[in-house]
This record gives sequence, C-alpha cells and structure tokens, in this order.
Amino acid sequence: MNKTILTGDRPTGRLHLGHYVGSLKNRVSLQHEYDTFVLIADVQALTDNFEHPELLRDNVTQVMLDYLAVGLDPEKVKFVVQSMVPELAELTIYFMNLVTVATLERNPTVKEEIKQRNFTRGVPVGFWSYPISQAADITIFKAHLVPVGEDQLPMIEQAREIVRRFNHLYGRVLIEPRAMVGEVARLPGTDGGAKMSKSLNNCIYLSDSAETLRKRVMSMYTDPTRIHPTDPGHVEGNPVFIYHDAFNPDKAQVEELKARYVKGAVGDVEVKQRLFEALARLLEPIRERRAQFEAQPARVREILMEGTRQGRAVAQETMREVRAAMKLTYFGD
Ligand code: TRP
Repeated sequence: MNKTILTGDRPTGRLHLGHYVGSLKNRVSLQHEYDTFVLIADVQALTDNFEHPELLRDNVTQVMLDYLAVGLDPEKVKFVVQSMVPELAELTIYFMNLVTVATLERNPTVKEEIKQRNFTRGVPVGFWSYPISQAADITIFKAHLVPVGEDQLPMIEQAREIVRRFNHLYGRVLIEPRAMVGEVARLPGTDGGAKMSKSLNNCIYLSDSAETLRKRVMSMYTDPTRIHPTDPGHVEGNPVFIYHDAFNPDKAQVEELKARYVKGAVGDVEVKQRLFEALARLLEPIRERRAQFEAQPARVREILMEGTRQGRAVAQETMREVRAAMKLTYFGD
C-alpha cells in the first residue's frame, strides 16, 4: 500500500518563504513517493474570519496558484477544498467526545493565536476547538505523514491522541500520523521577529515581483550592534544570514561572507545584495509558473474540482468504516 501525505493551509493570503521552507519544499520532493492530498482549509480559516467569508474565496485561488507555482504536480497531487467535504464535519463531531476541554486549553499554538487576535466577543468555540477538526482533516484521508511548520506540531500530537483513543474504543480504523518539519522549522520575519507571518507584515511572498523582493531584502533587519561596515558583526541569530543558510545554495559564498562579516570586512549592503540574488534565482521560476497557471483559470478550477472529487471519495470511504466501527449503521449501509 502506498503511504499517504495530508497537509494544508488556511486560505487567508498568499504563501510566503516561511511556508516554503517549513512545508512546501517537503511536499514537492515527496509527491512522487506518497499519495498526496493538500487541503485548502477554508473551514478552518472561517473560524477567525467568519465575518468576512468573501476574503477567503479569492485566497483559495491564490493559494492554489502558489501550490502549482512551487511545483506541486496536478497529475500527482489531489488539491481539496475543505468545505466541499462535509464528511469532515461529521468526523469532527465524533472526535469531540474523545478530547477534554482541559487538553484544548493547553494547546500552545492556539493559546498564542488567541493572544494575537482580538476576539472582542470572546474566543469562538469554532476557533478554540479547531485542533479537533484538524485531526479529522488528517485522519479522514488516512495520512501517515503531515509535512508542516513547527507551530503545527501540537495539532499533530492532538491528532495522534485522538487516533489512539478512537482505535482503542472502536477498533483499528484510523492511522496515527507523523509530523514532518522542514529543515528550517521556523523562519524569522524580515523584521527579525520570531516568525514570518502575514499578520506581522514581515513576509517575502512567493509571488513578490523582483522589485518588491529587492526592497524587502535591502530593508531587512540585521545586526543592530553594527553601525559601520568595519564593525565586527554577529552572524548567529542574524536574519540575513539565517536566510542565506536557508536559501543560498552557494555554501562557499555564504561561508566567505560570514567570515568577512565577523571581522568587519563586508558591508550589510553586499551581504543583502548576494541574498537578493539567491532569492531571485529561487523565485523567478516560481513566479513564471504562477503566471502560466494564472492565464488558465478554467484549468486551475478543473484541477481543484477533480482533486476535491477524489478527496471526497476517500473521505466517504473512511466514514463508512468509522460509522461501522461506531455501530452507527442502522439501515444496512
Ligand atoms: N492549521 C494549518 C495552518 O494554519 C492548516 C491546516 C488545516 C492543516 N488542516 C490541516 C495543516 C491538516 C496540516 C494538516 O497552516
């Protein structure tokens, strides 16, 4: 039996370099070995955007274009729109019995996200409990592996717990998934903040033009203790060098720049210029592929519809097994 990957993103904006190193790169390299499902998680995105569903609609297309642009192959990957698979909602309800309120309250990622958002009328139940629906996303496709950024590890752990409990209570139907984090688990923002994130406005998007890319790189936060190019600089924790390590394939050049940097023998402008060049080489083919697909909206829609159809068929099959295991088969189905 082929092994399966399920992963996904909320369609709240275009994807950026953090998504790329955290997860997209792994998805692209594993798509040939794994049966791959990529979920565009619009239902999850609604949990904190329910007042503006129209924002998600356009972003479903934007995220889809980003996927195709980085090289996810529509012949191999099934792209699935979450809201078009209502079986996910059903499985979520059954899973709710298997999770305690205390466990949800401890989820560090959700806690952090609640802090960042200001839910003026209190935290909606939908948002607070989204780890349960995410467990349904993963398990309904019988995924073995979930390539995700580091912040998603508590979600995978929650899914694993639910699977163990489900299989123990009702019989071995579900698969306990494993997380896979990219080589750069958490990419800092261009402002030196801990994480690249749309809401912090410190992103380089995969679809940024060369001009925007140059501006964003040249204004990046570097070593604040360094005032003149002749001051010895710090490489560790310096986002410009973290990006060099992550995106510049010319390791000899990176080492040489680092050596000169710590001696105070290179200016920030040159280090950033080299980073811009490396990123431009990475992003150019991505941008070109994006433009090709952008010019064929009917084809992109077709890819998404077909992926969703195939994904839903798998979900329906899993739910037949789930209902049988839970003794919810009344009319001979
Ligand atoms: N929570 C993920 C994010 O914010 C998106 C997501 C939804 C997801 N369902 C998933 C990721 C299932 C992996 C597996 O990026």
